[in-house]
Amino acid sequence: MIYPLIKQALFRLDPERAHEFTIRQLKRITGTPMEWLVRQSVPTKTVNCMGIAFKNPLGLAAGLDKNGDCIDALGAMGFGFIEVGTVTPRAQEGNAKPRLFHLAQAQGLINSMGFNNHGVDNLIENIKKSHFGGVLGINIGKNKDTPMEKSKDDYLLCMEKVYPYAGYIAVNISSPNTPGLRTLQFGDILDDLLLGIKNQQAALQATYQKYVPVVVKIAPDMSESELIQVSDSLVRHNIDGVIATNATTSRALVHGLDHSTKTGGLSGRPLQLRSTEIVRKLSAELKGKVLIIAVGGIDSLIAAREKIAAGAALIQIYSGLIFHGPRLIKDIVIDI
Ligand SMILES: Cc1cc2nc3c(=O)[nH]c(=O)nc-3n(C[C@H](O)[C@H](O)[C@H](O)COP(=O)(O)O)c2cc1C
Repeated sequence: MIYPLIKQALFRLDPERAHEFTIRQLKRITGTPMEWLVRQSVPTKTVNCMGIAFKNPLGLAAGLDKNGDCIDALGAMGFGFIEVGTVTPRAQEGNAKPRLFHLAQAQGLINSMGFNNHGVDNLIENIKKSHFGGVLGINIGKNKDTPMEKSKDDYLLCMEKVYPYAGYIAVNISSPNTPGLRTLQFGDILDDLLLGIKNQQAALQATYQKYVPVVVKIAPDMSESELIQVSDSLVRHNIDGVIATNATTSRALVHGLDHSTKTGGLSGRPLQLRSTEIVRKLSAELKGKVLIIAVGGIDSLIAAREKIAAGAALIQIYSGLIFHGPRLIKDIVIDI
């Protein structure tokens, strides 16, 4: 495979420029015969959950293709599902650059992107042009300049717009890079948000005559009692699934390493164990009532199996794809 060579070149660039370059190249070939450049054949390993058939349990995590620019090219790599976004009602720039760092010694990334995206309408236009045969998840968030007390409106608006195009909708309340966002994970604010979302889902189900599952994406940075509270709310509101986890604000495993003091969410290998622990605890609390999608540091077949052994039905990767290339998808799906 030529990825090691491509990686060498990409890793010499500033990480965000490398990312933009890659997305641009994938966008050029997406939906064209040139997709053969990235196409891999992977076996079908169907998983049925949330009323949907996933052709394999491995998905692309949110944040890599925020605007749905290259869905088909990513699909050609063999993912069973792709989560686009996070998208917000209105386009926004995100945080100041530089905001993406490689922690090469740790096989980790730190990002403080801050939901840089072209807005929900642009995403929908891109989705309309795509032909991906797998499941498309759409991850939604709030604009930075929407006051916290109006957050729910942003989620409900995005839901309304993406509902007809989504295999499932992921409600992202766990980015560390939008001020206040993580407070939506707790107590009455969470209950109020989930109630609004379930009402919206029921109304949209009636309109479109189809049920689109809603999953909630949570952070790894919470105490055991907070995790129990969140689990209770998810069950009480009949939420279809939970994605565990987003990137961490902890630097416990990376202190002293290059870039480890940068602000933002840490992902990749240093997150692996922490996110698996969260999945295991969630699984014990949820008792099969809410589906678990595990993400965090999956960089090998065994890391993927650990997440499933801990209670996940589906898994996702992001950082592992950056460090190991598309071959990781094939290696996982073949033996999962
Ligand atoms: C550069 C970057 C941008 C991300 N953007 C988003 C995002 O917009 N929405 C989201 O829900 N998660 C986002 N994530 C988090 C990932 O989806 C994933 O939860 C996290 O990176 C842990 O998985 P990993 O260790 O396989 O990377 C982002 C991660 C990275 C590295």
